[in-house]
Amino acid sequence: MIDEIRRIEDDARGRVAAVDTVAELVELDRELLGKRSALTGTKRQMGALSEDERRELGAALNAAQESIRGFLAARRAELEAVEREVQLGAERLDLTEVRADRDAGHLHLITQVVEELEDVFVGLGFTVAEGPEVEDDWHNFTGLNFGTYHPARDMQDTFFVDLGAPREVVLRTHTSPVQMRVMEGQAPPIYSVVPGRVYRNEAADATHLAVFHQIECLVVDHGITFGHLAGTIDRFTKAFFGPGYSMRLRPAYFPFTEPSAEFDVQRPDGTWLELGGCGMVHPNVLRNGGIDPEEWSGFAFGFGLDRLAATRHGVTDLRELASTDVRFLSQF
Ligand code: DAH
Repeated sequence: MIDEIRRIEDDARGRVAAVDTVAELVELDRELLGKRSALTGTKRQMGALSEDERRELGAALNAAQESIRGFLAARRAELEAVEREVQLGAERLDLTEVRADRDAGHLHLITQVVEELEDVFVGLGFTVAEGPEVEDDWHNFTGLNFGTYHPARDMQDTFFVDLGAPREVVLRTHTSPVQMRVMEGQAPPIYSVVPGRVYRNEAADATHLAVFHQIECLVVDHGITFGHLAGTIDRFTKAFFGPGYSMRLRPAYFPFTEPSAEFDVQRPDGTWLELGGCGMVHPNVLRNGGIDPEEWSGFAFGFGLDRLAATRHGVTDLRELASTDVRFLSQF
């Protein structure tokens, strides 16, 4: 019977080695070690033997069972490794495999404009800064010299976020709060531009969006004057739009600048594009940003990007800029 057990073990070794899949191996496991296996059959015949013979045979049976388990486990590990390789191969995605005849997508028109503007300002020596879109009242309003009951707060239809004290947290209504954050984060001289998304509680129509984009500029240095402001806007206008374009400033009011102005860009055909606001940074704003207005002065400006992009590319309805229609998007 010991010979019989050896034969069963040898036979098992060969059969395990011949199996090609984990599923077949599970079947074979049951066949070799289960209730109806040859080994169990041998075990059943033990009743007729003497105690010594039973002990010897029992040891041989256990040893055979152990080695068959070992064959199965080793083969299982091999097969699983192979199957994993095959599966990885099958599920492999070559992300560099872009077909030249297919449109792989591109940056959105607004992103392209932001990158172009950043290039212009970086060329003028500015650095690009960013700030949060969910902003607190201090940065969006109070720190920018909007008094608590100042009517200027109503110039901007604010989305309030239901967090903290009432009216304390807002979706930023302009990129100007980043002026405050830049001043908090660094000492002058400051030459920063800040592109970003802003929010106003307005119904969207052809010329308004509730979610749109602005770019903000902040300069703080020794001896900065209104002349530097006008010169920077002029240089920017020519660099961005081209030599046929010029700019003008008109007096205006913003709580965070004094004096303040609005600026327009004149197209070669003589028509005007109203771009944004600007002015000399108000002494209160410098103070709120931790900067001594007796020592430093600065200018700031900010303007919307969506109308600018739309005019430049002949888009007549701003809502198209938020569309996901590839027929629209693929034109730019
Ligand atoms: N934040 C203003 C707005 O959204 C635009 C603006 C005006 C920005 C004057 C400025 C500025 O930096 O100096 O209407």
